[in-house]
Amino acid sequence: MRKIALAALLALTTTLTSTAAEQAEAITVIHAGQMLDVKSGKLLKDQFIIIDGQRIRDIVTLRDMEDMDDEEVEFIDLSEMTVLPGLSDSHVHLTSDAEVHGYKRLTRSTPRAAITGVRNARRTLEAGFTTVRNVGAPGFADVDLMEAIEDGDVPGPRIIPAGRSIGITGGHCDNNLLPFENRRTAGGVADGPWAVRAKVRENKKFGAKVIKFCGTGGVLSKGTKVGAQQFSFEEMKAIVDEAHQLGLKVAVHAHGEEGIDTAIKAGVDSIEHSSFISDEGIRTARHNGTYLSMDIYVSDYILSEGEAAGILEESLKKERTVGKKQRERFQAAAKAGVKMAYGTDAGVYPHGDNGKQMRYMVKWGLSPLQAIQSSTINNAKLFGLENDIGQIKEGYFADIIAVNGDPLQEISLLESVRFVMKSGDVIISKE
Ligand code: ARG
Repeated sequence: MRKIALAALLALTTTLTSTAAEQAEAITVIHAGQMLDVKSGKLLKDQFIIIDGQRIRDIVTLRDMEDMDDEEVEFIDLSEMTVLPGLSDSHVHLTSDAEVHGYKRLTRSTPRAAITGVRNARRTLEAGFTTVRNVGAPGFADVDLMEAIEDGDVPGPRIIPAGRSIGITGGHCDNNLLPFENRRTAGGVADGPWAVRAKVRENKKFGAKVIKFCGTGGVLSKGTKVGAQQFSFEEMKAIVDEAHQLGLKVAVHAHGEEGIDTAIKAGVDSIEHSSFISDEGIRTARHNGTYLSMDIYVSDYILSEGEAAGILEESLKKERTVGKKQRERFQAAAKAGVKMAYGTDAGVYPHGDNGKQMRYMVKWGLSPLQAIQSSTINNAKLFGLENDIGQIKEGYFADIIAVNGDPLQEISLLESVRFVMKSGDVIISKE
């Protein structure tokens, strides 16, 4: 760490109102050897990011920084690295563990899931993911986790929690593992337009910041078909209208084409998985500005590690029909220019490996810059946080990561992030 002239900095920044002594403690300067402007794709040399508390005050160049002496400013030297905005993931389940699937999950209480979430939140943040959308948790464990992180009790990313996923009786968002006499119903189950509206209201009441519902069957649920729609159009429309009226965005779990088409027509904001999206679905998603959040890495984990983790044979069988097809449809959607969110389904595979999907997105049709944009500016827009996160820009949260090399040449660098800052706090810093 090096000290530089506060006076020199103050001269550069016009908005400073309080006294220098008050400001001195809070100001940090990062020297970025290279900084990726994720909007333009330009790599800018020798940028100096001035951070005041949680947010970025200014970004200046070397020429502005020449007048240095020994004043009280914390200096972070990333002159050998490439600096980018913190990444984000639109589809995680922090309270779930990749090693605990199928019937093993029945042994986990909601408090235990919350504790698991604490560990996974740290891993996610240390991997460079400074914001995540948690699309489904037992009870409202993700809301509590969000609050504990905001209060500074535990480290973790900024969380947009969904609370309980809304779904039909016996559907992908229900729990169908036990027979009738031991039946369990998941907390988000509701049938009928008014019942689902009530669920949306209840989720909002208990802290959900996004609404997640299941619009088709799924891979990892017992007895559901990935191709079969769940909820009628009326029910989907009721969920979306109610959520939007309350100022919440809507994410739908959907693999099969009919469920996807119906959900797009109902006005959802993002389609999770989108595995069998039709050409027509791609067209309407593009036309309506619906984001696709396609988890195209996770299949490899499910098929290699899933059995040991307790994933049911029927689910493995389903995955064999989904994985490759989903990648092909990703490619078609990428080619058509549909807006891509970066969503991975972490929790099905281990948290902290969120960056692995970058490589897959590049292999299946995005440029490295587009893959990075999906995890920065695109997700920021989808989350409604486009004025706060996703860019290194004046006024934005100081969510900053760094890698050793050029991620536009070598996208896998994002699997081993060397430096992470969230809201101005340094989380990790490695050589
Ligand atoms: N949670 C999802 C489901 O159960 C996981 C799907 C994973 N497979 C995939 N190819 N993306 O349906």
